[in-house]
Formats: sequence, C-alpha cells, structure tokens
Amino acid sequence: MLKKCLYPVAGYGTRFLPATKSMAKEMLPVVDKPLIQYAVSEAMDAGLVQQSFVTGRTKRSIEDHFDISYEVENEIKGSSKEDQLSEIREIRENCVFTYTRQREMKGLGHAILTSEPMIGDEPFGVILADDLCITEGDSVMKQMVGLYKQFRCSIIAIEEVPKEETYKYGVIAGEQFQDNLFKVKDMVEKPAPEDAPSNMAIIGRYILTPDIFDYIRETKPGAGGEVQITDALLAQAKNGCVMAYKFKGKRFDCGSLHGYVEATNYCYNKFHDPSE
Ligand code: G1P
Repeated sequence: MLKKCLYPVAGYGTRFLPATKSMAKEMLPVVDKPLIQYAVSEAMDAGLVQQSFVTGRTKRSIEDHFDISYEVENEIKGSSKEDQLSEIREIRENCVFTYTRQREMKGLGHAILTSEPMIGDEPFGVILADDLCITEGDSVMKQMVGLYKQFRCSIIAIEEVPKEETYKYGVIAGEQFQDNLFKVKDMVEKPAPEDAPSNMAIIGRYILTPDIFDYIRETKPGAGGEVQITDALLAQAKNGCVMAYKFKGKRFDCGSLHGYVEATNYCYNKFHDPSE
C-alpha cells in the first residue's frame, strides 16, 4: 500500500540568494541533475511511484521538469545526448505527479497537512530534497520501506551529528530496539545543545501513517512560530509508536552552501568521468 511520496518544496531557499530569487532551490543542480530529481529517483527506487508536491510561487520549474519538453527532446533525438535524459524519461514513464500549493509558509507540519487531499488515507513517504542521500546499495527510502513493512508505524531517518549542531535539526531520544533502530521516546525541534535529548538528528526522510494528519491538526505552532512535524510525531510516538532509523549511506545538507559544494564534489568524483 505504500505508493506515495511527498515533497514539501514551498520553502524559499534564502541561503542561496540571489540564485533562488526566481528559481526553485530544489532545481539547483548537483553536477548535472537537480536536487529534486535525486529525490524522485530515490522514491522510485523504493517503489513509490505516485509523486506529490506541495509547491509555492516561483516553483513552476519543478512541474516543467517532470513534464515532456518537446523542443529539447526533438533537438537531441538520435544523438549521444539522449542518454542524459534517460533517467528523467524513466521517471516520467513510471510515475504519476500531483501538485498543490501551500499559500503561506507556516512550517513543515503545515506543508504536510496541506498535502492531505492528495495523500488521503494511506501511509506515505516524505523526502526533503535539501537532504541529498547517496548510498551504495538500497536508497535510504528503500531501506525505510523495508522497515515499514515490518513495523507498520511512522519511521524517521536519523543521523548522529556533533552536539553543537543540534540547533539545526529535530533531535530524538530513543530506546534501542535493534541494530540502528530506536523506539522514539522524545523529540525536540531545533534544541540548543544544552537542551538536546541526544545528538541523534532527524534527516529529511520520513514514512508517515495517515493518522499524522490528525496529530498535525492538534499541533500548536512550536519552534520558530511554525507548525512542526516533529511535535506532531512526538504526540504520535506517545500514543502509539514511531521508530527512528540510523540509515546506511552518506547525507549532504544541500540547504547550506558548504553541504551543497561538498555534495557537488562528491557526486562529480563518484558519478562522472573527469576526462569527459
Ligand atoms: C526540517 C525538520 C527538522 C529536520 C530537518 C532535516 O528542518 O523540521 O526536524 O531535522 O528538516 O533536514 P528544516 O531544515 O526544514 O529547518
């Protein structure tokens, strides 16, 4: 039943101004591929083929990217450059796309709630395209789908971060359940290091059960005056079960200049022949 993946892409990307003044930050390329394509490709690898986007003004290029561009396709037809479009064609052929707009920026929790009419009463994946994850084997979302099938509850991806950086993330406290898997006991959005319950930070990959929408509706604005998914997940964890999974793979924070440049260098060295 896990078929849908949600991409909250309404945020402004102010750290990349002026590049993101009129362009979606998710369209920034890491080498030759936009961040959002890495995300959709990861979901497809996990078997999630219904792609849903919560977009905003200035984000139309995302819709165009996953549509056909007749001029370009015609222009390169029969040339070696066709290879460069093979992945996006595969995505187009295997996936369906739906879009809705978040008109006001009221936080990640609010963005996820905005998707309810598209998602309905089904579990769904969430990918924050800013967090680029590169793995050797299964994608991070695929690793999480495997766990969902086993536990049938919301699952969040986590990573250990230096304690002084907890203020950038949602941070969990958990009871170890098995290797790399924790049952969530506490969660705090963007805590100062001295208030953080651990150094295990939430990374932009979630599988959510649909009762999360009711929890979000009950969630008051929290850190930064925004409706936080972290707070809704804590309520869900207290009433039922939320698992936190320390994933296998490498994560780049492409919402920061440093992480973006690091990801670019890493992907260039890993996926491209420097003699090209
Ligand atoms: C969001 C979440 C946060 C999580 C982070 C991962 O924050 O609210 O809990 O740790 O994504 O990237 P944002 O980076 O949108 O401020």
